[in-house]
Amino acid sequence: MKKSCALLIVMFALVLSACGNSGKAGGEEGDKTIGIAMPTKSSERWVRDGENMVEQFKELGYETDLQYAEDVVENQVSQIENMITKGVDLLVIASIDGEALTDVLEQAERSDIPVIAYDRLIMNSEHVSYYATFDNFQVGVLQGEYLEEKLGLADGEEGPFNIELFAGSPDDNNAYFFWDGAMSVLQPYMDEGKLKVQSGQTDFNQAATLRWSGSEAQERMDNILSAHYSDKKLDAVYSPYDGISIGVISSLKAVGYGSDDQPLPVITGQDAESASVKSIIAGEQTQTIFKDTRTLAEQAVSMADAVLKGEEPEVNDTETYDNGKKVVPSYLVEPVSVDASNYEEELIETGYYSEEDLK
Ligand code: GAL
Repeated sequence: MKKSCALLIVMFALVLSACGNSGKAGGEEGDKTIGIAMPTKSSERWVRDGENMVEQFKELGYETDLQYAEDVVENQVSQIENMITKGVDLLVIASIDGEALTDVLEQAERSDIPVIAYDRLIMNSEHVSYYATFDNFQVGVLQGEYLEEKLGLADGEEGPFNIELFAGSPDDNNAYFFWDGAMSVLQPYMDEGKLKVQSGQTDFNQAATLRWSGSEAQERMDNILSAHYSDKKLDAVYSPYDGISIGVISSLKAVGYGSDDQPLPVITGQDAESASVKSIIAGEQTQTIFKDTRTLAEQAVSMADAVLKGEEPEVNDTETYDNGKKVVPSYLVEPVSVDASNYEEELIETGYYSEEDLK
């Protein structure tokens, strides 16, 4: 009697622990939920990233919980905490502040929830399993090379040309990669005096734009134009991101750039957001970097699927992305430079946009 009672208790305990694990171990993908934390809906690209991932995860039979934090760090932290409490099986995170998630990722680790960093590296945490992103240094190189080519520097033009420099958000690791990539091309011309930064603001910290804010960039451009360009012409602007480019262009137009007598400077960008592609078609912004969010989503989704199946995800970089605690194995997608000459081929023919989207 005693023995069979003990047996019953053991069996009961086993059933209980199996219930507690449901959705975590074994089972169909259908039992599993992926928590997707995205930074903001105010930038079109993140909306596409989120939609693409939800669609692709669904195709593989996963449930998803997609949350946007409107660039408020505390909101993102509590969204991730909620996902952990609800028991998601894996987290895909595009951080707002890459330095602010160390504690919440510890909670994820305690609950055995793997984490994939999406587009932006999460810093100072051991608990980042993989990183799906673009070749961020190459983004900067493509932007720098575009300016080099458009100004004729590559063909021996001496200038000097006036250029102003903008950088991304200092809490986003990517911002440093874009800047370093661009400076690897532009710095030698600045050293030779062929490119002149009349504001003198040549350090990353002077050029940085918190949260990639277009209005902050616009204000900085207003100040630079009034302080340094009342009697000079600006020939080029290095902008790392479309939202910043749009702010810079507004500022330039407000002081008369954009006419036949005073054409807009060459101005770069990134993300191929529809407003910027329209601006390129209208002859205002000059270039952008197309980062196909469909491909990035595919990488993140297949990484997540592999992790959850206990397989090794495909990576193509195991050296570049050190988050201060570990080098995070990464998959880097190739970015593409786009301007008026190739937007149709890259953006319309590939189905990223319809012609209608760009009208
Ligand atoms: C970066 C991202 C860029 C751009 C920027 C502003 O992290 O890599 O593509 O989207 O944020 O959102």
